[in-house]
This record gives sequence, structure tokens and C-alpha cells, in this order.
Amino acid sequence: MRKKHHKTGTNYGDNGVKKYSKSKHGPDGKIFLDKYLTSLLNKYKKSTILDVGCGVGIWSAYMANLDNVVVGLDIQKKMIDIAKGKYLNLQNLNFIVGDTEKLPFREKYFDLILSLNVGCNLPSTTFRKHFNEISRVLKDRGIAIVTLPDSLDLFFTDRNHDSDTLKKLVCKDIESTKIQDLEDVLSKKSYFSNIMRSTFIVRNNKVIIPNSSNSPVNGEKIWRKIPGLLIPNFSHSYNEYVKVAQETNLKIKKVYRESFKNHLELEKHNQNSLEKLGCEYIGNPVFSIIVLERIGT
Ligand SMILES: C[S@@+](CC[C@H](N)C(=O)[O-])C[C@H]1O[C@@H](n2cnc3c(N)ncnc32)[C@H](O)[C@@H]1O
Repeated sequence: MRKKHHKTGTNYGDNGVKKYSKSKHGPDGKIFLDKYLTSLLNKYKKSTILDVGCGVGIWSAYMANLDNVVVGLDIQKKMIDIAKGKYLNLQNLNFIVGDTEKLPFREKYFDLILSLNVGCNLPSTTFRKHFNEISRVLKDRGIAIVTLPDSLDLFFTDRNHDSDTLKKLVCKDIESTKIQDLEDVLSKKSYFSNIMRSTFIVRNNKVIIPNSSNSPVNGEKIWRKIPGLLIPNFSHSYNEYVKVAQETNLKIKKVYRESFKNHLELEKHNQNSLEKLGCEYIGNPVFSIIVLERIGT
């Protein structure tokens, strides 16, 4: 099955899922996402946790190993099959195939819900239902930790090229490329692996490269390049996450929108790491983490 945008989410296709399960999502994830995420997650013990859109279950297993009772749910059966096979030994961890539009749990059931880079897989109606359902199955004063890819109009690069040069190369190569050929065309280009993360807008059947005056619109179909693969996604801005969360009884407790503050911080990272990052990582969050609390009713 080919990768595609789906009615209530995205489908990476069998090969896409295999690649996704093997790829490590890059040093920027370790610095700007995992570091903050683990410090938030490590305080949960003996809690009832839902990892919605769990993928191959990496974070579900992380929480189960901290002595919580965990359910990982994902719409792609192939993801769940891989997750089940990987973590057979964990008795306190269950995986199920399901759709975030209608979570198969009673109201106020979970202490903690994780939605880690899931909203970007959802078309607008499902995006809203995702937050509604999180709010419904979360206990009063329960916590939801939501992460998202941010700064979608930027090309985040590794050290070997700068963003503008890469954009020009891509622009030239994808001129008149059909959406279904985007991955084939780009994967043959050696520079493609120098793009850590970027977004391609799919508008009127054309592939467009976003920039400051032409950003993806909320809910628009996009393709996202992440380290190792290209996946179908939907665009949702940080502001949209905040707005929809607040409209569904979820109060913002804390937000992390981290980036290098200056060249010195970037240089320090690049000196100590095998994978060097480009200067777009200064001042622009590549991910955001939003910690939400269910308002009591
Ligand atoms: C980028 S992956 C993130 C996986 C995991 N949370 C992680 O951080 O490793 C997004 C996941 O959301 C899932 N997804 C997409 N639409 C969904 C839906 N409607 N309901 C449940 N899961 C969905 C996809 O199948 C995919 O596994």
C-alpha cells in the first residue's frame, strides 16, 4: 500500500511504517524534544496512561517501564503489529488498533494522555475530535502532553548546506513534479539527506515550498521530510493547537518551544555531536511541547 492522506489520519504504507520503525528521528529530536519530554514523563509512576497515535510504541514502552499501566492506540494496524511484537515482555502494556475520533474508553479514565506528534497526522475535523476525546477520557485535573512539529515554513538543514541553497535546489528539481512522484524524485537527490526537516505544501495538485509569505494554512495537506523518510501530514500551527485545546476544556500548564539561542549554543552542540545542525535551529523551535490540564467539571 502506498503512503497517503487518509480520511481521519495518514497512512504511511507498509514500507513507510517499516522505515519509520527503524529510523531514529535525528539529533534535533534528542535535544529539543526527548530531553524535555523525558523530564516531564519520569515523574509518572503507577498511573493509568494512554499513548494515542502511539506508532510503534516507543513511548508507551518507556512509560510501562516506569511501572505505569499503559495502553498504546494507533490507527495503522502495521504499527500496532510491530509494537506488539517488540514489547511482549511487558505485562502492564497493551496495544490496540483504534481511531482517535472515537476512543474506546469511558469518561475520566486516564491520569495522563500522550499525543506525541499525532495532531500533524490529522485533518481538521479529526484534529478537533482528537482534543475532544482526550478531554473526555482524561480524569479531572489529569494531564495531556502534546508535541508538534513547529516552524513549518522553514527548511531545517544539517550543517553541509544552508536553507536557501537547498530550497533553490529542491525548487528546480520538483518543478512540474506530480505529488505522487515527489518522494521518488527527491530520494534520488544526494542533497535530500541534508534536509533534516522540511514541509511541502500540496495545493491545487501542485507541490509548493513554503516560505515566510506563503506558509501552509491550518488543515492543509502537506508532506513532511523527517530524517530518513517523507510522510503525509496535515498542517496545524502552534496557535491552532492552543486554541483547540482551550476550547475543549484543556488548560495550558506549561509550554516548551526550544531552540538554540545564539551561534555560540549551536557551535557548542556541533562541536560535541557527530551530526551537525544548520543555523535555522537558532531562534526557531523545531518542535513544541504543550502540557495541558483537564479542567474539572
Ligand atoms: C508521527 S507518528 C508518532 C508516533 C508516536 N507517537 C511517536 O512519537 O513515536 C503519528 C502516528 O499517529 C497515528 N495516527 C494517525 N491518524 C490517527 C488516528 N486518526 N487515530 C489514531 N492514530 C492515528 C499514525 O498512524 C502514526 O503512527
